[in-house]
Amino acid sequence: MELVSKCLQARDKAYCPYSRFPVGAAVLTADGAIITGCNVENASYGLTVCAERTAVQRAVVEGHTQFSAIAVTCDIKDRFVGPCGACRQVLMEFGSDWTVYLTKPDGSYKETSLSELLPLAFSPSHLAKN
Ligand code: THU
Repeated sequence: MELVSKCLQARDKAYCPYSRFPVGAAVLTADGAIITGCNVENASYGLTVCAERTAVQRAVVEGHTQFSAIAVTCDIKDRFVGPCGACRQVLMEFGSDWTVYLTKPDGSYKETSLSELLPLAFSPSHLAKN
């Protein structure tokens, strides 16, 4: 699957000299574009940006705010690894209707959803007054 291959390619671009934990992500937009991200670390560690957020932010700059799926991967071979909590919330900003492909380095993946990963979420709709 192309989205999965793209997240694997993006992982190879990770800038992670501190953690040595490369992560790749690829988002699929509603109109069929694929935009990738990798984690970008910083010597001031807290400034690190996760792969998922890098992908979403790149997509927004390119004019995309509607998404249908994200694939994420890291170097862990023996289990499927989900996005961190902060990234789940950032995905939720753009709707709860994301398919999420948790991808192993060999390209095998487990399909899940943002609703499953972030139940009872806070979302932009809660900011609307009663
Ligand atoms: N990381 C991500 O890119 N995405 C996640 O969902 C979890 C963590 C990155 C941040 C940091 O560069 C490295 O993985 C170790 O935490």
